[in-house]
Amino acid sequence: MCGIVGYIGHREAYPIVIEGLKRLEYRGYDSAGIALFDGNDLKVSKTKGKVADLEARAKIEISNTGNVGIGHTRWATHGVPNDVNSHPHVSNSGELVIVHNGIIENYDALKQELITRGYTFQSDTDTEVLINLIEDVKKKENVKLGKAVQVALNQVIGAYAIAVFDKNKPEEVVVARLGSPLAIGIGEDESEFFIASDASPFLEYTKNAVYLEDEEMAVIRFHKGIKVRKIKDDTIVPTYVQELQLNLEQIEKGGYDHFMLKEIHEQPKAITDTYRGRLLRNEAIIKMAGVEDNMKRFLNADRIIIVACGTSWHAGLVAEYIFEDLARIPVEVEYASEFRYRNPIITEKDIVIAISQSGETADTLAAIKLAKSKGAFVFGVCNVVGSSIARESDAGAYTHAGPEIGVASTKAFTTQITVLTLIALRLARAKGTISSSDFRQHLLELEMIPKKVEEALKSDEHIKMIADIYKDVRNILYLGRGFNFPVALEGALKLKEISYIHAEGYPAAEMKHGPIALIDENMPIVVIATKKGHYEKVVSNIQEIKSRKGKIIGIVTEGDTQVRELADHVIEVPETLESLSPLLTTIPLQLLSYHIAVLLDKNVDQPRNLAKSVTVE
Ligand code: G6P
Repeated sequence: MCGIVGYIGHREAYPIVIEGLKRLEYRGYDSAGIALFDGNDLKVSKTKGKVADLEARAKIEISNTGNVGIGHTRWATHGVPNDVNSHPHVSNSGELVIVHNGIIENYDALKQELITRGYTFQSDTDTEVLINLIEDVKKKENVKLGKAVQVALNQVIGAYAIAVFDKNKPEEVVVARLGSPLAIGIGEDESEFFIASDASPFLEYTKNAVYLEDEEMAVIRFHKGIKVRKIKDDTIVPTYVQELQLNLEQIEKGGYDHFMLKEIHEQPKAITDTYRGRLLRNEAIIKMAGVEDNMKRFLNADRIIIVACGTSWHAGLVAEYIFEDLARIPVEVEYASEFRYRNPIITEKDIVIAISQSGETADTLAAIKLAKSKGAFVFGVCNVVGSSIARESDAGAYTHAGPEIGVASTKAFTTQITVLTLIALRLARAKGTISSSDFRQHLLELEMIPKKVEEALKSDEHIKMIADIYKDVRNILYLGRGFNFPVALEGALKLKEISYIHAEGYPAAEMKHGPIALIDENMPIVVIATKKGHYEKVVSNIQEIKSRKGKIIGIVTEGDTQVRELADHVIEVPETLESLSPLLTTIPLQLLSYHIAVLLDKNVDQPRNLAKSVTVE
């Protein structure tokens, strides 16, 4: 989604904003722009394409001097991606400039009103409407920029994070948020300030940041500090400066060709970090504060409803199998976008688990607000510490996967499954639905997963060879059963996200009810056929594919012979408990997608049209 960067201070703003935009490239975007005050005038440069295209253009269009600047990467919502629709947008007078992340839903009504007042518009964007609305208020009411922004935002319906400045008063930048994240980095002695959608653009300058809450705005003044207010009623909010735990190395590629590959290889460590301090095998206990503190609620719950989107939704599906199997609690898994709009039946005895890597996905956030309003207890499983969903939840557990930059989610998925497994095991123990020896066995096996993921990663070269054989196909089918059915969905999603090859995941037995019609000698089918997961049944499914000449890539348990005889290729993963097998079977599917995308020369980390964090509905 769109990314915002800004700077005001004693340094040159240009390199900080441009480098900051590069750090936000992972969010997904189709155009980029920058506005600077160069000491005399406002300079704007923007273009469709990448930040590199912007740099080439900015070199000609703007001098890179100036100590205040705002920049933007745009993921198109209103208006196609082109130069004119790119941000920043300037008001009719040429004095005010804005960058905006989000959607102004009532932009058309506001626009019509502004047109009757003589305003004209160059772009198709809602953002250009907002900056002219701010200008109109400022002129009409003869107020300062901060006040004008506040009054204008009170007329707006929608979601936003914005940064605005006035070329006549370049010593101040006004920012605001509702539904889209915004962080303010506080430089030494409060002499400089950084603005960004997340902290990554300013990590090398400062570790101190203020995160705006929804419905808050801040006026940031060079050398004078920041003042945070409520947008609605102007009340002053005390600023809370957080010390960031993030390191620069965590958001760099560290020798890998792509973030996605780095993150795939980080999984052994990420999974270990997820269970560290929670899984205490010697004492045979699982300790998770968010669960312990709310144990009564969990034990009295009629059911668990999991809401999530994308890969996180797949982790939710795996969790459904795990919770029901181990803890015997009924689970429903919902797409957050459907749940929020379908008048769901939610009671005070429901527990809603929201899964989100970013903690900012608009639909998931809205779904938990709805659940809370109906009295349900909301438990967040997020990766990004302090994110909106984490803050909005009644309790939660972080995945501790570290920053995930590649748009295609990898380590977030396996760490989400790890956290959810820990929760299920803890509840199973409390409910007595698991025997003490089974519980111990699970702890032991879970602790061995990182080592086994390392083993699974060793198939990399073999998988690359398979990728080379199938890289030019148009379709691939992924099949799995039980715990591994959601893994089939996730494998298919990974492939389509980054290689643009059509892929579908199906429960293996459902193949007979449709997809089998697609099978011929040109159709590769990835089948997850691990030893403990309804193995014989899956082998029968493989036979059915074989007799229709489909090409079979089997994901099998180490030492398997039966599938090897039938399949065109096999990729082995170490043996583990069936309930934990998704943590291993996922690995080869991630690598297969990665290699196919690289061989096809696709942009692995920033696939077209996709965004890392979808902050609009
Ligand atoms: C986007 C990303 C996916 C992610 C989904 C949900 O579509 O590209 O990788 O799974 O959003 O995001 P969340 O941050 O809520 O897990």
